[in-house]
Amino acid sequence: MTDKSANTMWGGRFAAGPDAIMEAINASIGFDQRMASQDIAGSRAHAAMLGATSILSNKDVEAIREGLLTVLSEIEGGTFEFSTALEDIHMNVEARLKEVIGEPAGRLHTGRSRNDQVATDFKLWVRDQLDAAEGALLSLINALLEQAEAGADWVMPGFTHLQTAQPVTWGHHMMAYVEMFGRDLSRVRDARARMNESPLGAAALAGTSFPIDRYMTAQELGFDRPAANSLDAVSDRDFALEFLGLASICAMHLSRFAEELVIWSSAQFRFVTLSDRFSTGSSIMPQKKNPDAAELIRAKVGRIFGANTGLMMVMKGLPLTYSKDMQEDKEQVFDAADNWMLALAAMDGMVRDMTANRASLAAAAGSGFSTATDLADWLVRVLGLPFRDAHHITGSLVALAEAEGCDLPDLTLEQMKTAHADITNDVFDVLGVENSVASRTSYGGTAPVQVRAQVARWKEILS
Ligand code: ARG
Repeated sequence: MTDKSANTMWGGRFAAGPDAIMEAINASIGFDQRMASQDIAGSRAHAAMLGATSILSNKDVEAIREGLLTVLSEIEGGTFEFSTALEDIHMNVEARLKEVIGEPAGRLHTGRSRNDQVATDFKLWVRDQLDAAEGALLSLINALLEQAEAGADWVMPGFTHLQTAQPVTWGHHMMAYVEMFGRDLSRVRDARARMNESPLGAAALAGTSFPIDRYMTAQELGFDRPAANSLDAVSDRDFALEFLGLASICAMHLSRFAEELVIWSSAQFRFVTLSDRFSTGSSIMPQKKNPDAAELIRAKVGRIFGANTGLMMVMKGLPLTYSKDMQEDKEQVFDAADNWMLALAAMDGMVRDMTANRASLAAAAGSGFSTATDLADWLVRVLGLPFRDAHHITGSLVALAEAEGCDLPDLTLEQMKTAHADITNDVFDVLGVENSVASRTSYGGTAPVQVRAQVARWKEILS
């Protein structure tokens, strides 16, 4: 060491320590301390392997593994002093280990590098997030299944262009989100399976001349196998990008549902009542109950997709293998993960607490000529008209009802007959919304029997 302020970890060839600005731009300890437990798990696995392969003595390995537990408890207990001069979590842990156990600490870094170490730590961290997301998605899906089951036959308007289209059931609408979050769940599981290869032992980039056992460390850390190419292992951040990609899609789903809850809870719709626990008031308008949680969930997709774009830009064009650019991967992933988890939890709480207003849903279901398609289908089925003619006749009846200021079922048979002389009283059966939804029994349709079948299918899938 030629200068006291040069870095003790890599300062051998340096005569002076870094400028304060250099230290500020270089250090990642401010954020990568979140990977402390993964870092220590990785080091414990590496140490055990160094012992099993006789690269280190069992005595040194014991000291290292014990010492790492001490360091972990200091970090978890909040007594650990993180140092910016030590750059990152890897060097902070190793430096403290040296203080705790002395000389054997210096042997821990045999046959590895911070490059495979950071890739391993980050993968373990992202994998933990995927596991948490799986639990959160399962819980949300279950909450939606409860809503769907309770209201499998509650009629409500279905929309296209946010204009009343055809009556559907509350259960059917809830089940649409079950399908979406179900796909998110399968993306989480796919990503987890694909990412579950261990970078540890790739060392700096080329592997190592020490007789390490990468299968052993992979197994100890719960990976399926070691990553097969050392250059790829240290420079791959696909797992983080996939995480952000699937989180973005899920956050997009959450935002669509959130938007519906904002609309539905308005005084103009009154389709749902959100609980006080997931609403806020206004400081000036005493009557207000605002759906803030839904609005914030709606907004979260912005920063999550932003992180996805941000990391894609960091990785784009980087030559193999590790470049320091890649240190910019973590903060965005941490932020996206925190906000995705929060949005999932908030949506879960809102769905469990919310009350669907059956009467308002039913009242809205019948307005806006929502059974016009049923009328056209009746003309095809009973009178044998071509659908295009039936569509035209129905359109003229909608215009008539609009002129009369009434809904389709309120027209008299005589008025109906002005559009087509063969129309009979039976037509009124299909103009009711209950009959309309009950008739849509095609697979995946809105009929309560289909909705109940889908609820049962999902319960089976999840059991
Ligand atoms: N703090 C670094 C990161 O987060 C760890 C890897 C450093 N490797 C290196 N060759 N400087 O990426």
